[in-house]
Amino acid sequence: MIIRRFYSATITLVLVLGTSILTVDAQDPARDKLVVETLVRLKRFDVSENEKLRASVTRHLDAIKGSAKFVEYVKSFSIKEAAPDLIKMAIQQPDETIGVDALTAVLSFGDTQAVEAVIKGEDSVATVAIVNCLGKIGSKASLDILIATYKSSPRSQQILIATTLAISKTFPGQLFLIEQAEAGTLPKSVQFAVGNALYASINPDIKSRAKAAIKLPATADSKPLPPISELITRTGNATGGKELFFNKGTCAKCHKVGADGKEVGPALTEIGSKLSSQALFTAILDPSAGVSHNYETYSVITLDGNILTGIKLSATDTDFVIRTAEGIDKRLSQNDIDEVIKTGTSLMPADLQRLLSVQELTDIVAYLQTLVKD
Ligand code: HEC
Repeated sequence: MIIRRFYSATITLVLVLGTSILTVDAQDPARDKLVVETLVRLKRFDVSENEKLRASVTRHLDAIKGSAKFVEYVKSFSIKEAAPDLIKMAIQQPDETIGVDALTAVLSFGDTQAVEAVIKGEDSVATVAIVNCLGKIGSKASLDILIATYKSSPRSQQILIATTLAISKTFPGQLFLIEQAEAGTLPKSVQFAVGNALYASINPDIKSRAKAAIKLPATADSKPLPPISELITRTGNATGGKELFFNKGTCAKCHKVGADGKEVGPALTEIGSKLSSQALFTAILDPSAGVSHNYETYSVITLDGNILTGIKLSATDTDFVIRTAEGIDKRLSQNDIDEVIKTGTSLMPADLQRLLSVQELTDIVAYLQTLVKD
């Protein structure tokens, strides 16, 4: 049976090649596809010696770029030159199987440099996407890159948090983080994110070591904050939450719901449709973990030594307009500016839980969950 299939595949290949030699139009996409499929069936992946076959494979891969088959074939034929295309796929779909498979293929080529180049590159969205994707791969190779990234002090807090969270996805990664925490070398800015990840570890040893080594911040009632995995199981009171949102919680100083509140951060009118309760807790308790696009914080240093911090509203050749945490818009002339720095942190205060008890926090999240699209 196997032998018969082998022969029939061989015959198809001979036929396909035969016709391609005979016909004038050697660039028939359907034939390229047939050639590739036949080669795959024959497990004949080394086409380096045969120019025609190689050309067919290259053309067919070009035609199916970005698809799952593309990743599969690139891997089978070991086309290392496809690494940039694979990396692009991982950046575009870091949370999908296809993106994870694409990046796995790059690592299987041993091409870690290309991956590291994206991580070190200018484009923060791409960096975070690749880091998240590496976390989903969870292999020794991906963990090595993530740990190297962690050790190289990433350029923003968001990237550092994404990196430590990606590291926390594997058991060896969790061990690495707990050792960092126990040695006192875990940066303060990631303690909340790492604490939450390790408190939720299914490994009891890591969990108890995390509880001893990493303290979650205290709330208004001086009780340490339970991890988010526990917070989401609590029931909140949405009516009380609304009251807290507009008063004690100070949220409305920066957020609009409908027509009420100030617009420093994004409007939350439909936030319940956008974020899960877990994501809501994270957004409130660890704002810098995932700063929404367009709401990145900038610090502007003026020539006369002032520092203004806020959200960039606009920047032209002549002017720079920044909105401060108090909701005040300040227009600065570029001539007066010494330097503009992207802080990499959120303008939203990182210690809002200090104003609120655990119950009040849960109430606010319950309120936010009622804010859904009509
Ligand atoms: C000083 C201003 C400020 C205060 C006070 C503030 N926020 Fe924010 N908030 C922001 C900014 C700016 C962002 C966007 C940047 C980011 O994602 O961190 C944001 C983002 C968010 C997001 C994520 C929105 C999205 O679309 O992803 C939520 C949810 C949120 N805030 C809820 C709250 C709640 C609840 C409170 C009160 C307990 C609060 N905020 C207080 C400024 C503030």
